[in-house]
Amino acid sequence: MNAQNPDIAAETPIVPEIDSTATTAMATETTMLNPRFYTTDFDEMDRVDVSSIRPEWDKLIAQMKSDPNKGHFKKNADWDKIDWAAMDPKLRVEFIDFLVSSCTAEFSGCVLYKEMKRRGNNPDICELFNYMARDEARHAGFINDALREAGVAVNLGFLTKAKKYTYFRPKFIYYATYLSEKIGYARYITIYRHLEANPDQRFHPIFKWFKEWCNDEFSHGEAFALLMRTDPKLTSSFANKLWIRFFLTAVYSTMFVRDHARPEFHKALGVDIEWYDQEVFRKTSTIARQVFPIEVDIDHPRWLPNLRRMRDAFGQMDAGKRKGGVAGWLGKMVGGAKAATAFVSLYTIPVIKREPPKNVRLEPIY
Ligand SMILES: [Fe+2]
Ligand SMILES: [Fe+2]
Repeated sequence: MNAQNPDIAAETPIVPEIDSTATTAMATETTMLNPRFYTTDFDEMDRVDVSSIRPEWDKLIAQMKSDPNKGHFKKNADWDKIDWAAMDPKLRVEFIDFLVSSCTAEFSGCVLYKEMKRRGNNPDICELFNYMARDEARHAGFINDALREAGVAVNLGFLTKAKKYTYFRPKFIYYATYLSEKIGYARYITIYRHLEANPDQRFHPIFKWFKEWCNDEFSHGEAFALLMRTDPKLTSSFANKLWIRFFLTAVYSTMFVRDHARPEFHKALGVDIEWYDQEVFRKTSTIARQVFPIEVDIDHPRWLPNLRRMRDAFGQMDAGKRKGGVAGWLGKMVGGAKAATAFVSLYTIPVIKREPPKNVRLEPIY
């Protein structure tokens, strides 16, 4: 990380333990913790009528159309050269895992949004999804460029065909995607601000791009907040409140388990994982008050202990899988039961009730 040279694309893998086939396989695999690809009822989404929120909608679309980040996702003199071969091997593996997982998540958005645009006839919906697909394609491509320098780029064309798609009804797409966009914003900006204060811990130049980047995610989240506002039942009925609670718990706990699987990565950034995750949850929950009528209580005495239990249970399941045989199977079963118990305990923590404001729109302020 010394000489500044934007032209450092490597042709051959310089990372001894991983190659492009391996990273593509990592991205293709469907597990509880990996980012998924989604499909939905595109016809139902195409019927959404935005006339009840027209002024806010038009403002957001105009902002997306102006494309403030058009020139942002290009390497320039700020892109310091990385000596991948000299990186600590454990950090290298975890950092590549982080990049592959982030690239898959970005590309997952691109695939879903592009498909909605392709299948739709509703001009409002098609225009929105076109801009969001444009942004996610840039994001995924930029991360993949960073992977390419190590000779371990993910084969995104193959991924589109080979990865399993999970079907979600449109309302579940709204909850899950709204949350993943806002949590994406909170994750990127929290790392960015931390490294702004501690530049010596920025071990890769990609983090310098996170500020403008996360504004794209923020806008995408705004779009889903507006879409949810077109049908008040989505955020007010008893059953839907339970679903929102479920998605909040599932998304937060998955993030906690996934981040804890990368201790060397967070150590290199100088970030305490629990602090970071709580910080991201807090920002996300504060933002989500714009549309969700409930908030999970992340300061409740049962919150962190059960997240830790969940993390340990996943560790046990993982160890069982690697061990194999009857003992491995048993370990996996016990781990699975422990994870389920921890999840129930988290899900039943009393929620904080919120009254979403009349005006849904927010600006990124962190
Ligand atoms: Fe993105
Ligand atoms: Fe996004």
